[in-house]
Amino acid sequence: MPDARLCRFDELADPGSRGFEVELNGVPESILVVRRGGSVYGYINRCPHAGSPLDWMPDQFLSLDQRHIQCATHAALFTLDGGECVAGPCVGDRLTPVALELVDGWICLGRQAQS
Ligand code: FES
Repeated sequence: MPDARLCRFDELADPGSRGFEVELNGVPESILVVRRGGSVYGYINRCPHAGSPLDWMPDQFLSLDQRHIQCATHAALFTLDGGECVAGPCVGDRLTPVALELVDGWICLGRQAQS
């Protein structure tokens, strides 16, 4: 099994975000991880509107007020905790979730994401 560790939980600002290149079910994928408080959420780094990557600079996925994930292409806003688009051209669509686990202070890919 490939190493499922992404980064240490305390390496992420609160709130904060970071991108990773991983393999999901044998397929290379770009993903993002966002932290708010004691929770972390993972999503495929692909906007449901036009399929663009979400980040406007490496590891920069959050809106200026840090309350949402923001797409760099047409500025859609997505909730941190569910990836639902709440403003922009794809309201009601969702980011594709990636299962994560916290293990001994590490943020790791969840088991179902690796199989
Ligand atoms: S590609 Fe993300 S809002 Fe258009």
